[in-house]
Amino acid sequence: MTREHSKKSAKELPHPLMRNSNAPKNRTLFLEPEDWQRYGEIPSVDELTVEHIADESSGVELTGDVLTSDVLTDEALTRDGVTGAQPACRWQADRIYCGDGLTGMSRLPAQSVDLIFADPPYFGLKKDFGSGKRSNPWKTIQEYMEWNRAWFAEAARLLKPHGAIYVCCDWEYSGRVQEMLSDSFEVLNRITWRREKGRGAAKNWKNNMEDIWFAVVDGEQYIFNLEDVKFRKEIIAPYTTAEGKPKDWMETDAGERFRMTCPPNIWTDLTVPFWSMPENTPHPTQKPEKLVERCILASSNPGALVLDPFMGSGTTAAVARRLGRRFIGFETNEDYVRLAMKRLDRVSVSGPA
Ligand SMILES: C[S@@+](CC[C@H](N)C(=O)[O-])C[C@H]1O[C@@H](n2cnc3c(N)ncnc32)[C@H](O)[C@@H]1O
Repeated sequence: MTREHSKKSAKELPHPLMRNSNAPKNRTLFLEPEDWQRYGEIPSVDELTVEHIADESSGVELTGDVLTSDVLTDEALTRDGVTGAQPACRWQADRIYCGDGLTGMSRLPAQSVDLIFADPPYFGLKKDFGSGKRSNPWKTIQEYMEWNRAWFAEAARLLKPHGAIYVCCDWEYSGRVQEMLSDSFEVLNRITWRREKGRGAAKNWKNNMEDIWFAVVDGEQYIFNLEDVKFRKEIIAPYTTAEGKPKDWMETDAGERFRMTCPPNIWTDLTVPFWSMPENTPHPTQKPEKLVERCILASSNPGALVLDPFMGSGTTAAVARRLGRRFIGFETNEDYVRLAMKRLDRVSVSGPA
């Protein structure tokens, strides 16, 4: 589907997030005017003031001041310059802060997070993530990997002993990510997501995949809720017992025969969030909710705190909330933060999709 087609269709079919248009007029935005029409009345960050709520259910001890806005200012992000001590915990669960992910992570207390889902900006991708330049800050893959190393180290500090991390990446540096992750974690698997959309190439194979590395702090005590992520598999050979009863499979009233099987590490059943899907936002690299859902269901329990250092359109936050988990995240682009907050307005605890 072309972008042009998607815009036209979006006008014809009101987007679920659409209300009366009230788009900011005088700003340089990565969003097209049509997108703002669809996302009218996204609150400005100033409107996203939060109350000081002592949050005991997250299992995180909150000390010091709690921010009264969802914007972590540079000042707030700076470590305590007077005492040089551990930074005060000026944060709350169930918030997305507008700021640099690495700096934000450095402000969180050690061993406070149960699960990290990270979909960092990709090295080669020429998307405008709000800098106004359609390029990334890293000049070389080495610079990019050093930046990854820095936030991997923070991730290792933040995760609890039973914690896990999922890291999305492209094939071009997937091998390096594995190697670097294994410096701080026990890497347990590489999930490959087969996407329908890929960039065509005249003299190369079309890129139709993304990797998601799965690693844990401690291979002896991590959480893996197998039953919650089993796959439904159609039965081709319906073996029966001596009594003629189904062996390991079930049959629906409609005659469909299936078995619930262990989840594989190749995911071919997920599409990118197309414009017509309720979860779709104008974010250029939004992940499917179902993909994030699988990771959260498998590697955390209800009430767990899930961190996403690069929130984008807030997919991790929305899924975490729907599944009864807590979340915290960072995103440098204020417009995306607003988009995510708007998206979150519509989500309540309701279980797997
Ligand atoms: C690949 S996208 C994440 C998409 C997200 N998973 C979703 O489903 O919408 C990466 C995001 O990281 C943000 N970003 C880039 N550099 C960042 C940084 N240093 N700290 C926090 N966020 C950053 C970009 O603006 C972008 O929205």
